[in-house]
Amino acid sequence: MHSFKIRSFIGLLATTFSVAEAAVGLCSKADSVERDVVVIGGGAAGAHAAVWLRDHGKTVALVEKQDTLGGHTAVYHDPATGTPINVGVQAWMEYKDTFDFVTRMGVSTNGSMHFASLTSQYVDFQTGKLVDGYAAPSEDAKFAALQVYLDACEKYEGMLLPGFFNFPEPEQIPEDLLMPFGQFVEKYDIAAAVPQLWQSTVQGVGNFMEVPTMYIMQASPAPMVRALLGKGAAAVPPSGNLHELYERIGDFLGDDVQYSSQAVASTRTEDDGVTVTVQSSVGDNNANNCTIHAKRLLIAIEPTVANMAPFELEESEREVFAKLGYTTVYAGIVRHPALKVGTSYGNTLPAAAPANYTVYPLPAQVGRFDYLDMTSDMFSFTAVGTDADTPASMRALIGQTIAGMVSTGVAAAEPTGETEEVEFTAFADHGMMHSRVSAAELRGGFIQEQLGLQGRRSTWYTGAAFTSAFSTVLWEYNNMLLPDVIKGI
Ligand SMILES: *[C@@H]1O[C@H](CO)[C@@H](O)[C@H](O)[C@H]1NC(C)=O
Ligand SMILES: *[C@@H]1O[C@H](CO)[C@@H](O)[C@H](O)[C@H]1NC(C)=O
Ligand SMILES: *[C@@H]1O[C@H](CO)[C@@H](O)[C@H](O)[C@H]1NC(C)=O
Repeated sequence: MHSFKIRSFIGLLATTFSVAEAAVGLCSKADSVERDVVVIGGGAAGAHAAVWLRDHGKTVALVEKQDTLGGHTAVYHDPATGTPINVGVQAWMEYKDTFDFVTRMGVSTNGSMHFASLTSQYVDFQTGKLVDGYAAPSEDAKFAALQVYLDACEKYEGMLLPGFFNFPEPEQIPEDLLMPFGQFVEKYDIAAAVPQLWQSTVQGVGNFMEVPTMYIMQASPAPMVRALLGKGAAAVPPSGNLHELYERIGDFLGDDVQYSSQAVASTRTEDDGVTVTVQSSVGDNNANNCTIHAKRLLIAIEPTVANMAPFELEESEREVFAKLGYTTVYAGIVRHPALKVGTSYGNTLPAAAPANYTVYPLPAQVGRFDYLDMTSDMFSFTAVGTDADTPASMRALIGQTIAGMVSTGVAAAEPTGETEEVEFTAFADHGMMHSRVSAAELRGGFIQEQLGLQGRRSTWYTGAAFTSAFSTVLWEYNNMLLPDVIKGI
């Protein structure tokens, strides 16, 4: 068992920071195009699906809102050294044969993940004060508890990963999956595992101790825990830059991608395919808009009711998506002269001292600031908002959090005589994440209703709302789903 001082995996996501003059693609060629499948969203799920479809002899159009593919996999290059810093996804968790996809795109998975050795400070971010007497679980206690959690994840793995293909009927769902995670932690006596799960991903779920355990097993799934325990790989390319994969995918797909564009309207039929009108945010007025006719539509964005507006949901479809609750997740890089090089600041409730591992801050909250040791003065951050938070409200909260630590001296301000502003070197808005419903909805057959949407009106769904938000799990989900999507075309 190796001791795995892991940076947060949260951030499993991201948008781009460098907005170069955007390539647009598909619609610059024609006002109207025909394809077998139109894919909406070029994150880990949509980009993989487009390659899979091409590899299976189908024509595709991929519509991506940003000027690059990769979604929550983004990279920032330190200008001083050129070192790539992943913002969002930090590694690919070994899962079945999904590294084959990375290899197929000409990218190697044999790099090593970088681990910084940092001094931990446990700070109440509400007040900026150190939480006196707090002690993290011992490594032994943590790994033992993670193993117990992993055993349970593996017991139910076939029901949850890579999607809900084998999910039980409502009356047969195991109580372990429905109970609030706090109750599960007590039942299995695994409190010592929770700080690591919180740091890795589950802080993104918000009030995760109250959430049905199956959604925790999606947010911190078996492949991630196997990697934490040294029983599975957490892979990166030799360059360390995970976004490299999406650059290769972009090259491969070429003009089948329409960048910097979003669907604005559509018609969806049962027997006669779909039409999607796409509008670009760059270029001369109408030059980069077009209409895509396709036999199938694959939605690979988060299916919030707002995101689905262009797809003119029927009431029965809208009802399903309206039940999903979300938190908003942010990741990025900040600089501030008061943050101490070599330090990791973690948001900790005073009630957690000396050793209560069941209490955590609720959104909106900043999770942590971790010094990036490949830079001279940059810190990664994670932050989680409610579904009402915005990038602006979260930037303000991050500024207040640092100001609080300056006022108490926990972060030692340089005596500049003026209050320094926080500099956002990179800010990734991962948007709505960790979709979930209550145990009552699950008992009422929610998963079956959700799965019942697949294939209706020529429309199919991939992405985190239908599985877990880990790249490799999404790829395996596609491997299982896409044969049905192309049946008969
Ligand atoms: C890593 O992969 C690259 C490219 O696939 C290869 O050239 C190199 O030999 C590999 N290194 C190891 C240690 O396997
Ligand atoms: C094309 O897109 C632009 C925005 O980029 C918009 O102003 C214009 O109305 C669109 N035209 C059509 C025909 O949809
Ligand atoms: C942890 O703190 C919570 C909230 O203060 C409390 O309800 C719970 O009993 C505490 N647990 C332990 C083990 O101290």
